[in-house]
Amino acid sequence: MNYALRDMTEIEQLRQQLQKQEKLASLGLLSAGIAHEIKNPLNFVVNFSKISGNLLEDLTAIVEENAGRLPEDDREEMREIVSSLKDELVQIRESGERAISIIEGILLVSRGKEDEFVTSDVCRIVKEYVWLSYHAMRANYPGFNVAIHEEYQEGLPMVIVIPQDLSRAVLNVTNNACYTVWRKSQSAKEDYKPRIDVSVRMEGQELLITIADNGEGMTDEVKERLYENFFTTKPVGQGTGLGMGITRDIIEKKHGGKVSFTSTEGQGSAFTFTIPI
Ligand SMILES: Nc1ncnc2c1ncn2[C@@H]1O[C@H](COP(=O)(O)OP(=O)(O)OP(=O)(O)O)[C@@H](O)[C@H]1O
Ligand SMILES: [Mg+2]
Repeated sequence: MNYALRDMTEIEQLRQQLQKQEKLASLGLLSAGIAHEIKNPLNFVVNFSKISGNLLEDLTAIVEENAGRLPEDDREEMREIVSSLKDELVQIRESGERAISIIEGILLVSRGKEDEFVTSDVCRIVKEYVWLSYHAMRANYPGFNVAIHEEYQEGLPMVIVIPQDLSRAVLNVTNNACYTVWRKSQSAKEDYKPRIDVSVRMEGQELLITIADNGEGMTDEVKERLYENFFTTKPVGQGTGLGMGITRDIIEKKHGGKVSFTSTEGQGSAFTFTIPI
């Protein structure tokens, strides 16, 4: 198969897609406002589920003190109910927290000055955008699922980066990782378990962010042309072929870092951003 741009219609399709993305950008501004509004009630959900958890602890203590007055059966049932209540409160809190982190992600993308270097918690950015990518894939590709394993080195320092750009880079690479494991799962054997490994760690004076997948891997041709603008192996309409080029510019030109990768056809790929701090 020839991956080169095949004819003018394809260029036209890509141009239209870019135009669509510009529209999306202005939509982004609007959604920033909405996202901000949604964050408040979500904070209530999280905070009240925490408070309810504490109240439940208090209530349990009182009931346990007087448990002797209850028949054995009722006592058992009460404990079961309390234990399910606790589990459910944790679920509510965690879902709320996840929703907040998605919203914060949207806020980060859609507002803020360009090219502004800010002291940032890189692990948080990576985490947010990895999960943003995951949820976007879940929404767009029915049946998509992947186990995401995260490893964040403890005690990492805050790092000066351009958060919007770094998050874009993480998103691009995670999108590719999600896409390839999804593609592979369409044809792989039943025991194939899609998996993405994310890690953030320090080595000397450098911060290393790695996103690895056990997807399809890349052929030599794809490896060579990976950063070429408009180079894509995705069906027209699904990829613009700009993701990796943008990612390299962000990491290398803007942050003075390096993007490297290893990839084995049929087994997967691992991308690493090395950022000097
Ligand atoms: N993790 C990966 N596994 C396998 N192939 C990959 C991976 N990452 C990138 N590629 C290959 O590199 C090509 C270029 O990637 P790039 O992100 O630049 O563009 P794209 O994903 O096709 O489109 P988009 O502009 O939407 O990101 C992809 O089409 C794919 O063939
Ligand atoms: Mg891409």
